[in-house]
Amino acid sequence: MVTQLPASHPLVDGRTGGSPLVRASRGLRSQTLPVWFMRQAGRSLPEYLELRKGVDMLDSCVRPELASEITLQPVRRHGVDAAVFFSDIVVPLKLVGIDVDIVPGRGPVFAEPVRDADAVARFVAKVRDALADDDAKAQLFAPIRDAVELTIAELGSTPLIGFAGAPFTLAAYLVEGAPSKDHLRARALMRGEPELWSELAGAIAELSSAFLETQILAGASVVQLFDSWAGSLSRELYGQAVAPSSAVPLGRAAQFVTPEGERVRSIHFGVGTSHLLTDMHAAGGDVQGIDDRTRLDEAIERLGGDVPVQGNIDPATLFAGAEVLHAHARDVVAQGAAAPGHIVNLGHGVPPETDATVLTELVEFIHTLPGDGRLEA
Ligand code: CP3
Repeated sequence: MVTQLPASHPLVDGRTGGSPLVRASRGLRSQTLPVWFMRQAGRSLPEYLELRKGVDMLDSCVRPELASEITLQPVRRHGVDAAVFFSDIVVPLKLVGIDVDIVPGRGPVFAEPVRDADAVARFVAKVRDALADDDAKAQLFAPIRDAVELTIAELGSTPLIGFAGAPFTLAAYLVEGAPSKDHLRARALMRGEPELWSELAGAIAELSSAFLETQILAGASVVQLFDSWAGSLSRELYGQAVAPSSAVPLGRAAQFVTPEGERVRSIHFGVGTSHLLTDMHAAGGDVQGIDDRTRLDEAIERLGGDVPVQGNIDPATLFAGAEVLHAHARDVVAQGAAAPGHIVNLGHGVPPETDATVLTELVEFIHTLPGDGRLEA
């Protein structure tokens, strides 16, 4: 199925189609390199902390004016080449009525973990009811649509990146009930009860797809699927139990096209996924996100040299002084020159302790480098 984007969409009306970020996602180079940061919206910004005072994290995500303003803050401050929608991977779960909280310093915590057949059946039914038809979906995601529309109206030619959590990463939280290091229960469910697992992953895939579709239709120009914890899986397990459900939201995003037939492009990202890069890319996505544990040039080679990449400045270098940071960023850009498109980013999210001025200076520095990444020695 192919769905035309609305005429007022920024990719259709000419606002973002020529931006360095959208071009890079299509495998094209521009005069300057596009740069943005995962978790650029959030705790490293004093203006964010000010706005969030007394407002619960997940409540802030369903207040359109607030979510929009937080999305715009890093664009104004740093001059990044994209906004990333302020929300969270667990927001769709909250919207369908799952009791989830984000505990500061810890992460998502669920009142009732989904671990057995009954709990999976209840979860699947909840998702099915919430997504029963287009009206139900529209109502469910109304605050998301409104926040995206408000944001787009302010962004001009800067593209908005929409996002969702991949089924495995969301299930890892849902099954454990809280953040965990090794996602043991989720992996046990996959191995021990593969059918139950695929029901659960299938329902989450539908929910994440609907979350992405809402953001795309409301004006997101590119989307990112976060499979942050996929690195804890073997290639075999990833291929069997995870790739099929990640393919759903990535495939769904790609169904949206401009009148010229340009698909909405997507970025597929995970942490510690050096061994999974080709499998993740095969599951879907146009741009492969590379974390900072893998050399960018090696990743590009492993992907065959024809896949646009995103990454992978080590977030630790944000604390190592400008000289070290800029030398490292230069090296990342030089390694990225081998790919058809390179979106410069960190290898993972901005650490909360980061000095915001360091990020602004990093953006300025990246923008001094040539867009083809070919640096003079
Ligand atoms: O700036 C952006 O990247 C956009 C907004 C965004 C948030 N979460 C806001 C947020 C995005 C893209 C996410 C994705 C997300 N959420 C992921 C995948 C990305 C990754 O880091 O790998 C994951 C695993 C989550 C789940 C989650 N939400 C965690 C682990 C945490 C951190 C908890 C903590 O306090 O350490 C959150 C909370 C969260 N999500 C915050 C923000 C700005 C911090 C909340 C606060 O300000 O108190």
